[in-house]
Amino acid sequence: MKTSYTNWLVEKDNEQIITLSLDKPDTTTNVLSQNVLIELQSILDDIRKVPAKALIFQSKKDNCFIAGADVKEFSSFLNSSDNLPNQSDLKKSDTAYDQALHAVQLGQHVMNSIENLPFPTFALLNGHCLGGGMELALACDYRIALDNSKTRLGLPEVKLGIHPGFGGTVRTNRLLGVFKSMSLMLSGRTLSVRGAMRLGLIDEIISKNIKNKYFKKLVNLWLDKAKGQTRSKLKYFKQQQKRSFYYNLFEMDFVRPLIAYMLTKSVSKKVQKTHYPAPFELINLWQFHAGNDDFMMKKEAESVASLITSDTAQNLIRVFHLQDRLKTLSHSKKDKPLEHIHIIGGGVMGGDIAIECVYRGFTVTVHDQSHEVLARLIQRGHRFFKHKLKENHLYQSSMDRLIPDFKNYGLKKADLIIEAIIEDTKAKQSVFKYAEQIAKPECIFATNTSSIPLDDISQVLSSPERLVGIHFFNPVARMPLIEVVSSKLTSTAARQFALQFAGKIGKLPLPVTSTPGFLVNRILTPYLLEAIELYGEGIPAEFIDKAATHFGMPMGPIQLADKVGLDICLSVATNLSKSQSVRVPEKLIQWVENGRLGIKTHKGFYDYKNGKPVYKASHYDGLSRAQISNRLMFRLFNEAVACLDEKVVENEDLLDAGIIFGTGFAPFLGGPMHYIKHKGIEEMDHTLIDLSKDYGRRFNPVIGWDSLIYK
Ligand code: NAI
Repeated sequence: MKTSYTNWLVEKDNEQIITLSLDKPDTTTNVLSQNVLIELQSILDDIRKVPAKALIFQSKKDNCFIAGADVKEFSSFLNSSDNLPNQSDLKKSDTAYDQALHAVQLGQHVMNSIENLPFPTFALLNGHCLGGGMELALACDYRIALDNSKTRLGLPEVKLGIHPGFGGTVRTNRLLGVFKSMSLMLSGRTLSVRGAMRLGLIDEIISKNIKNKYFKKLVNLWLDKAKGQTRSKLKYFKQQQKRSFYYNLFEMDFVRPLIAYMLTKSVSKKVQKTHYPAPFELINLWQFHAGNDDFMMKKEAESVASLITSDTAQNLIRVFHLQDRLKTLSHSKKDKPLEHIHIIGGGVMGGDIAIECVYRGFTVTVHDQSHEVLARLIQRGHRFFKHKLKENHLYQSSMDRLIPDFKNYGLKKADLIIEAIIEDTKAKQSVFKYAEQIAKPECIFATNTSSIPLDDISQVLSSPERLVGIHFFNPVARMPLIEVVSSKLTSTAARQFALQFAGKIGKLPLPVTSTPGFLVNRILTPYLLEAIELYGEGIPAEFIDKAATHFGMPMGPIQLADKVGLDICLSVATNLSKSQSVRVPEKLIQWVENGRLGIKTHKGFYDYKNGKPVYKASHYDGLSRAQISNRLMFRLFNEAVACLDEKVVENEDLLDAGIIFGTGFAPFLGGPMHYIKHKGIEEMDHTLIDLSKDYGRRFNPVIGWDSLIYK
């Protein structure tokens, strides 16, 4: 028997096993929108009345069980937080809050209905199972996942400024106990199928190629395991297995405050409560309500409704959409073939780019003028793949695809050539001039230059339209963004190819024009230079860094400069000083001349011991924290407005995305342009004028502010 609904397909076989398959129309991803939930509730109401042996949830989509609740719908609840109720004032009526509460309670109601069905329930996880999808799986009695190395499972809600709201906090704690469940939800990390099995989140892994018939056999096997016990006994039997001595101990009233204190302490090391309240709310929820499922569920819904309508969640959801927007830039209907990548220059960047491309499945030849660099590259590859790839055949095939190429043979076969040699125009020109004589005519040329205009490099080429900038950030493996740089001569095909390439190696591409410093370095440099300026005025490095992290930056500017390398900072600043009003600090020049380059020489603004900065200053009472952060951040905002005005990027959203993913700019603030608008353009402009009166021309508002004000 088969019944089709808009989103769900219900099938019942001769063995009385019901299968509920989700297939949300017109999309490649299943999400739990309000429609999907309402439809599911009505199906559940019907099937609970019919005799059945078991119910199986699955998805009809490839590689996606359920990716979560519908984040687009979240935006509809989002209002300014000004008039929102706080946790202690929940009776105060507010439309946004009420709507959010209603939506969360609907989700909870559906999950409770699944949990209370009179027959055993199974979730067959045939792809990504995240957020609300995981909560649905948790409401089932058994979770069985298909073995697929690409599948991710978890509860990443904190990344959107909320925590699980469909009963997930209650059920995860019940299933895994406080430490495992909190570590999963507080970090928002996602797990592989095997990781989820190790943690206890799922019950079994089955081979990817298993046929539906065999899965049904497995279901029967599980049912046999329960030895024909009645439904309520089966649940009890399973829960008793999980509830250990420690589980009960940690739930005791006198132990909880201690555990909550430990969890809070550990979270506070990573984020501040004022910036990211969700993890702290989650700990509170557990501390005060765990064990009392119904009440915890009620509080869970209230907490999520309150969080989801806050500015933090609003901005984090904006960042989520921006990320999606960058991802779609790499999509294309016509896919130009890409198999072989040739990299010229196997140093810090070239080596890392090569390893990343191999890791993503490409064959990569790497040419360098130095044998030692190539030998080191192989060692780096070995360490990386050993760490990342647990299966030997994957490690071996990756090592086989990382090919040192001293003689530059790869030039001939490559579909894409990426140059990452020293930052020198003439040297780069001669690399491409030679490549043009040998490479296939359809091969695309890319440079990783951080500051040289593309037109300067492509001058020597007879087909300058082949050259595009693919600007990676350091460290390549960790930084999600790539700037795709086009000059006036770059062809649409080369640009499109570079955008697609970014997607293929799992990066977010940001299209920018070939102006000095492109977008990210151009905006970051004045901010870093202001930090050096402040340091020169006698403000201790740690106070400058604290002011920036207090604002919401992931790392202080002084520590960042030491990490990037003072030589790199100097080279970018020097290049920018040729075209922008950037003054290169004398101290930076001197230190670089003396070989004081930051972490890599164990000495920069800080001294380093075992790779960690040694903090010396404990006291400073000059400028306030706000004054310091204003000086840092307003240099950044002013440059952001200049870039927008000069059309370095197409629009404000792309600028915000670039600065968030390229520099880590406080995601909870939604990006620099979003912040400027939120604070008020004219007010920000006035602050700049005040700063310029106190500290000079570098704070003069750029003309772009006028266009923003009069827009
Ligand atoms: P690096 O000095 O570590 O590596 C450069 C490599 O190129 C060296 O191994 C050198 O032997 C090799 N090389 C030099 N001339 C060559 C030639 N004619 N033929 C073949 N190999 C040659 O430099 P790094 O840091 O990797 O930078 C490379 C490029 O990436 C530069 O354009 C830099 O501006 C850019 N970049 C650097 C970033 C960083 O954080 N280091 C970030 C983003 C871009």
